[in-house]
Parts: sequence; C-alpha cells; structure tokens
Amino acid sequence: MAAMSTDSTGAAARNSPFVRACRREPVPHTPVWFMRQAGRSLPEYREIRANVAMLDSCRRPELVTEITLQPVRRHGVDAAILFSDIVVPVAAAGVDLDIVPGTGPVVAEPVRTAADVQRIRPIGRDDVPYVDEAVRLLVAELGGTPLIGFAGAPFTLASYLVEGGPSRTHAKTKALMHGDPELWHALCGRLADVTLEFLRVQVAAGVSAVQLFDSWAGALSEADYRRFVMPHSAKVLAGLGADVPRIHFGVGTGELLAAMGEAGADVVGVDWRTPLDVATRRIGPDKAVQGNLDPTLLFAPWPVIEAEVRRILGEGRAAPGHVFNLGHGVLPETDPDVLTRVVALVHEVSARPAERG
Ligand code: CP3
Repeated sequence: MAAMSTDSTGAAARNSPFVRACRREPVPHTPVWFMRQAGRSLPEYREIRANVAMLDSCRRPELVTEITLQPVRRHGVDAAILFSDIVVPVAAAGVDLDIVPGTGPVVAEPVRTAADVQRIRPIGRDDVPYVDEAVRLLVAELGGTPLIGFAGAPFTLASYLVEGGPSRTHAKTKALMHGDPELWHALCGRLADVTLEFLRVQVAAGVSAVQLFDSWAGALSEADYRRFVMPHSAKVLAGLGADVPRIHFGVGTGELLAAMGEAGADVVGVDWRTPLDVATRRIGPDKAVQGNLDPTLLFAPWPVIEAEVRRILGEGRAAPGHVFNLGHGVLPETDPDVLTRVVALVHEVSARPAERG
C-alpha cells in the first residue's frame, strides 16, 4: 500500500463507501466508523498513552499516526478519524488550557471580556505543523481508507472557554450569549476563524472528509441556535467549500437537525434519540445522515445489539445516504470485540452485491 501514489490513494479514498455515502452515491455496503474509536476502549491505546499527556500526544505526529491507525487495524472500520482534540487549535491560538484526565478541557482564565477575546490569536499551518505532518503520514499509511479531519464548532468551544471547563447547564455561556450579544458574536467569530483555519490545514494535507463537532448545541432552543450559533458554524462550513464532505454533529439535537443541515452540512450526525427515518424527514432529501446506535447499548447482550443494528440500518434506508456510527462517542469501558462485531454485522446486513458495479 505504501507503494500507491498520493494521487491513487486520494482517488481510492474518494471512491470509498464512506465518501460515496456522504455524497449520497450508491455503495456496496453501508460504511461504518465510531466517534472516539481511537481511545481508551483499546488496550493498545492505553499502553501507548501510559506516560504521555493528552495534549502532548496530539502534538507528536508519529504517535498520532499510530493511535489513529489502531482502530482501523483492529475493527476494519470504513474510515479513520484523526487523533486530536477540539481544544488543540484553541491552545495553538494562545489560550492557556489543559485536558485533565476524567474531566476534559480546563481553561486557566475563562473568557469574560473583550480583552480576553482579543487574546485569541488567528492561527495558520505553522501554528499546528504537527497536524499537517500527521495527516500527510496517515494518508500515505492508510492506502485508500479515508481519513476524517475534525474540529469543534464555535458554540461548543465557546462553552469550554466561558465556563472554564465542562458544564452540565452551560449557564455562564448562555448568560454571556443573552447578556452581551456583541461580545458573544465577537468570541464566536474568532473561534470560527480558528476552526476554519484548523480544518483548512487538514484538508490541504489530504483528509477525505471533515466533521464539525457541536457536541453541546443540543442545550439550546432552535431560536437561540439560529440566532447565536448557526451563523458562525455556517461561516466555517461555507469557508471549506464542497471539496470534501462536511459532517455536522451534535448531541440532543433532535429539534435542531434541520438548522444544522441548513448551516451547510453534507451529512448530519444524529444521536440515538431520533430515529434516522424521522431525522431524514426533518433534514430533507439533499443530505446524508450519520448515526445512531446508543453507545450504552454496546453493554447489552449481543442479540439486543444485533436487533438495534438491524433496526438502524432499516431506518437509515429512508435517507439518501447513511454512514453507520454511534449516537455519541465510544465509552471507555466498551469491549472492543463488540465494536469489531458491529462492523462485521453492518457490512453483512447492508451488503448490496447488485450495486457493486
Ligand atoms: O477517535 C476519535 O473520535 C478522535 C479523537 C477525538 C478526541 N477528542 C480524543 C480524546 C475527538 C474527535 C475528540 C473531540 C472532542 N473532544 C469533543 C467532541 C466529541 C464529543 O465527544 O462530543 C469534545 C467535547 C472534546 C473535549 C474532551 N476532550 C472531553 C470531553 C474529553 C474526555 C475527558 C475524559 O478524560 O473523560 C477529552 C479528552 C480526550 N479527547 C480523550 C480522547 C481519547 C481522553 C483522554 C485520554 O485518553 O487520556
């Protein structure tokens, strides 16, 4: 595979079941990958990360490459996702933060004022050279398996910056949004610029698709989403253009699915709360969907999992394109063998030999 030229691996990735499903083209089987597929569910990940802090590991291209490849080798998923984190570009933009094990991102000085917003610098390729290098190494190693790049959406990033860390209620974030809309839009405008540049670096280095994670957008009403968040996410998605498919994902976004599609996605991520046939009616016929097995169901007996996978594949047929995934990330306690079995089952149940060409 290492012998394949960059052009031929790029062409193979563009013609892969994953990219074809994102583009609503016929596929030989429904493609599957898992959010957080590279991570603590894998013993080989825990071993390689044993003495390396999370943010440090994201800045070492060889380590990023190895961790990204682990789930591809083990599970036979249809796509790799770059090992990184949504706060990596924010740290590169000068914000003092860390990822605390068991907690998540923690920001030293939460954003409260216009001066705090000013301190978030624009970034370019030279602020994240390790991401550019890791993507290039991975595209060469993957030999035609598509690589998904990603970034955090402005709202989800803003929540970490304003709260100072993970929040259940997003109370300070909503207080800023409604109490000082001008400052809110200034903050999200800066974050949109950082996110767009971070994604552009990944696209220029060769990723085959990108996913914009607005994980916490489901905390908002549709009206607030459209007014305070959507314009900034739309700027990111429009800025990328349609060269690579754009997946737009959030949790608890049943009421926001149409708006998240309108923001400029090619594929809308759906959590387990909304069946995919219902989701596709809300999103419309011109976008694919991704999802949506409840990650906690991976702890249920196999016959339950099998029935759920079959149900989701059936409901996914209502959409013009379906990428199988979980409704949110793999939980660390998940048995990796169950994930491997799910991949095989999705491929088997969805195989369409007549369309193989
Ligand atoms: O496999 C993949 O999906 C790619 C890697 C990836 C990570 N973070 C690695 C990671 C991706 C896509 C992310 C995105 C991310 N990071 C999101 C959006 C996705 C989502 O889950 O909604 C969010 C909200 C974050 C912020 C963040 N970073 C959290 C909440 C945590 C977990 C904290 C904990 O310890 O439970 C992190 C740390 C993190 N990012 C880990 C991994 C594998 C765990 C840290 C470790 O392994 O030591």
